[in-house]
Amino acid sequence: MAKVKVGVVGYGTIGERIADGVAAQGDMELVGVCDVAPTVPVRALIKSRKDIPLYCAVPEKVKDLEKAGGKVAGTLEDLLEKVDIVCDATTPGVGAENRKKYEAAGVRATFQAGEKTGVGDVQFNSMANYEKAYGESYIQILSCNTTGMARCINTVDRRIGVEKVNVVIIRRAADVSETHKGPVDAAIVQKVPSHQCEDIMAVSPHIKAFTVVVTLPITHGHVQTLQLMCKKETSKEQIIEIFQTNPRIVMFKIEDGFISNSHIFDYCRDLGLPRADMYECPVWDEMIHVDGREVWFTQMIPQEAIVIPENIDAIRAAMKLQSDYLEAINETNKYLRIGELV
Ligand SMILES: NC(=O)c1ccc[n+]([C@@H]2O[C@H](COP(=O)([O-])OP(=O)(O)OC[C@H]3O[C@@H](n4cnc5c(N)ncnc54)[C@H](O)[C@@H]3O)[C@@H](O)[C@H]2O)c1
Repeated sequence: MAKVKVGVVGYGTIGERIADGVAAQGDMELVGVCDVAPTVPVRALIKSRKDIPLYCAVPEKVKDLEKAGGKVAGTLEDLLEKVDIVCDATTPGVGAENRKKYEAAGVRATFQAGEKTGVGDVQFNSMANYEKAYGESYIQILSCNTTGMARCINTVDRRIGVEKVNVVIIRRAADVSETHKGPVDAAIVQKVPSHQCEDIMAVSPHIKAFTVVVTLPITHGHVQTLQLMCKKETSKEQIIEIFQTNPRIVMFKIEDGFISNSHIFDYCRDLGLPRADMYECPVWDEMIHVDGREVWFTQMIPQEAIVIPENIDAIRAAMKLQSDYLEAINETNKYLRIGELV
């Protein structure tokens, strides 16, 4: 079967990671990436030996990319002529404008969570509603926090049923390079419920969700404490066993020295993972508590990497590569080596 031809529009924190993730898939071809400025990720791409064609969405900006040493392969429209689907990871608001161009070119697209809800025709998490996105042309991926929640909640839901979920999200203030958002020394609170619960209920309408967010001056991942009300009584042993069936969830122990988000980030760096990225959700063993139908657990959300597998699953759904959600997830996992490296 011919490989699916994929473009990435917006080569920033998320776009550069999607590009590498797509390039690793045996049944996809990364045709090119597109940006508008010689940002740090674009400069790194130019400097690296990666042979990824670079396109420029704004013709007047071509000279800026060339000045930085880039060879520009063409415009966004040129890229759209060569691809079946794009992953749009542009600055929030740009994706909604770009959708018109994708429609005009007959190209499918995934969009990120920073765009307004509705930019795609379906909000997506492969554990929750792969079937709903199957064959859809415009799919919006959940945010990093909501992706992590949806993965774990639906892993439990598919086995023993979940009625309700309450989540406290300790949100990282900024990605490492977002210096315009800091330095800060505060725990920023906001009105409840935060928007994440609406997104959880959009992909899993049968689960009642409530979310609270407090933002802290940290960069290496969000931390979430979830309380699930399951349909059946369960036990800590069963919850661990259920989590272990999903390679996108990985258990860590406090007693092994993993006492913070930063320790897990450091571990990924020591393992030599590219960009110290972890696609999996780390769950702390000693923070799982079960009382009858009530399950408490705490997980970290590696915000820059976690949505990459789901973007690739969304390509699989849009392009009808696999009709079964687990087959699609397993295929993505295989090429990203999820479950093998950490
Ligand atoms: N950073 C995260 O942790 C994270 C996690 C999950 C989802 N997201 C979402 O992913 C999306 C991208 O976020 P990011 O953090 O990668 O942002 P970013 O600022 O790092 O990257 C955005 C890129 O888009 C480029 N761009 C802007 N206008 C463009 C245009 N017209 N054509 C082509 N490229 C254009 C910018 O130059 C930049 O390189 C947002 O919707 C965000 O909410 C971010």
